[in-house]
Amino acid sequence: MKTYYTLITGASQGFGKSMSLEFAKRGMNLILVALPDSGLKKLSKFIELYFNVKVCYLELDLSISVSCYDILRYIEVNGLQVKYLVNNAGVLSRGEFSGLNEKYILKQIDVNVMTPTLLIRLLLNNLKSNGPAGILNISSMASFFTLPTKQVYGGTKAYLTSFSKSLAKELKGDNVSVTIICPGGLNTTTRLCYQNRLMGWVTQKSVLNPEEAATIAVDALFKKKNLVIPGFINKCLMFLDKLLPEFIKDKIAESEIKKQPVTV
Ligand SMILES: NC(=O)c1ccc[n+]([C@@H]2O[C@H](COP(=O)([O-])OP(=O)(O)OC[C@H]3O[C@@H](n4cnc5c(N)ncnc54)[C@H](OP(=O)(O)O)[C@@H]3O)[C@@H](O)[C@H]2O)c1
Repeated sequence: MKTYYTLITGASQGFGKSMSLEFAKRGMNLILVALPDSGLKKLSKFIELYFNVKVCYLELDLSISVSCYDILRYIEVNGLQVKYLVNNAGVLSRGEFSGLNEKYILKQIDVNVMTPTLLIRLLLNNLKSNGPAGILNISSMASFFTLPTKQVYGGTKAYLTSFSKSLAKELKGDNVSVTIICPGGLNTTTRLCYQNRLMGWVTQKSVLNPEEAATIAVDALFKKKNLVIPGFINKCLMFLDKLLPEFIKDKIAESEIKKQPVTV
């Protein structure tokens, strides 16, 4: 009998860590990926002991394409069967475009766009051979809205959402589902928890804890859902987005952005 694994990028903290725990809770073996010295060894040991599943970890920089090939090699050398691939690693940033560091812009595009695209391509045959299999891409509500100061981030997530929707249709016959989850705010880091507390009522009410969002995301993947907006308020916002005229939406976005602290 085959032993199946779920590969999760950006598993060391935040949403990725919550999803790792959620998959382990459901008995899935894991391959965790994050940057070196991010605590993956400790997390892997904890998950193995607590949930009685197998956990491998890889410490790699996902802003360089060679890391994707390293992941493929590791999987092939160890004969691992990947049933679920979770593209979670992401770089969040904010700031006036004219002031953004060029290297940082490119790094964000590489982690948020290049890596999920290349990883899916490289692991697709493995996934196909383990069907029914699934891909879970972590996008963002930012992929739908016009957000000054989040232009690169929103752009990378818009790519991921669009790419995933098309890929989902293409892979239907291959027994590989593609699920896109588009969270609004998540209280993942101390900085984001602080920042979210400064925002208006709507944002505050729409923010989810990573644990709640992780349960929704894994459920959606297992149910082969296509696109999921977690949280009731976020769903309402998406509905309103279709109804409100552009100038009102711009005003709301501007006012929310002004509430954010300058140094993020
Ligand atoms: N937080 C939110 O409000 C929110 C909202 C919507 C969508 N999302 C999306 O959810 C995902 C997770 O966000 P989060 O808030 O949990 O972020 P986070 O706490 O900053 O965690 C990001 C994860 O990605 C990893 N990562 C970043 N750059 C990497 C690199 N170059 N190589 C390898 N790993 C790298 C980090 O690893 P290290 O620990 O090693 O740095 C970490 O495990 C992202 O895709 C984000 O866009 C977040």
